[in-house]
Amino acid sequence: MTAPAPRYDMKGKTCFMSGATSGINEQIARRFAEAGAKVFVVSRSIEKVERTVAMLKEAGAEDAAGQSVDARSYPDVEAAVEACAEKFGPIDMVLAGQAGNFPAGAAQMSANAFKSVVDIDLLGTFNVFRAAVHKARRPGASFIAITAPQAKRPWLFQSHVCAAKAGVNMLVQCLAMEWGIEGVRVNAISPGPIDGTEGMDRLAPNEEMRERYRKALALKAFGNRDDIADAALWLTSEGADYVTGTILEVEGGTTLGDASDAMKI
Ligand code: HXC
Ligand code: NAP
Repeated sequence: MTAPAPRYDMKGKTCFMSGATSGINEQIARRFAEAGAKVFVVSRSIEKVERTVAMLKEAGAEDAAGQSVDARSYPDVEAAVEACAEKFGPIDMVLAGQAGNFPAGAAQMSANAFKSVVDIDLLGTFNVFRAAVHKARRPGASFIAITAPQAKRPWLFQSHVCAAKAGVNMLVQCLAMEWGIEGVRVNAISPGPIDGTEGMDRLAPNEEMRERYRKALALKAFGNRDDIADAALWLTSEGADYVTGTILEVEGGTTLGDASDAMKI
């Protein structure tokens, strides 16, 4: 049996994707590659970058490349964006997906621990978007930040993440206002708990905690990485060409409130 044709055609499109060498973002990159895009990935670990580039070529990317970059360093991000544009041409899609997370009480964590997460998530997103907009296809480019439900809802032992991701949401909305005049769309996707990811392994490291998470969700189930990749493909497609400044929640009802006591109708 032959595999079904991908729903989206991204042949000729260039994607610059930070933090796309594992987890949710790696799956987004894989799906873009399957749709025929040219994909440039960056993250800190060169081993992860090289492994991902090989995977993307295997998955059907028109071409793939990458570079080791810490998103906290503007000069490094800018150099990678320039390398991407030089190799693949104007950038059609930009993903800022890198993040740092660990559970820690605010009274216990160091100022540097707080700063590390804010710098990776918020400053990193600014750096990626700010550098990429100068090489973006205008009009037509789609910018996507990966945020989290912590941006909208206070969360125990996540003050650093809540503050950083709330900043990401506001940054996305400000840039959508500023760059819409150039035909550049800027949106965020907010995933809920996604199965089999580093993020959930850190926040719910055992089955008892996972079960507590699941029970509280309206949909009573974790999401999977393709739920988020589907949203990213749509946001990048022509079908979303009037969508900007949106925080697209793909989160099983996480921010609706605690649904632990819900009963069958
Ligand atoms: C308290 C901690 C800590 C912990 C590190 N620190 N881990 N403090 N509890 N568990 C402190 C360190 O002591 C140090 O402070 C400061 O944070 C920086 O640590 P470094 O290790 O030097 O930083 P760095 O190498 O830059 O690593 C960044 C990191 C790391 C965030 C700490 O965990 C990382 O690289 N994470 C990337 C992967 C990741 O987190 N993925 C999950 C994303 S999921 P001092 O004062 O000692 O110098 C997500 C949302 C999930 O974001 C939402 C689910 C619903
Ligand atoms: P993950 O597997 O840990 O992925 C994080 C990625 O970011 C990796 O590619 C990592 O590669 C890169 N990265 C980390 N710090 C970086 C830095 N300073 N500079 C450049 N790259 C950096 O995480 P995940 O769980 O899939 O989460 C992915 C995204 O979804 C994050 O934005 C997260 O906040 C969001 N999210 C996740 C969940 C969930 O359930 N997992 C829920 C809501 C939101 P290197 O180590 O090589 O740098």
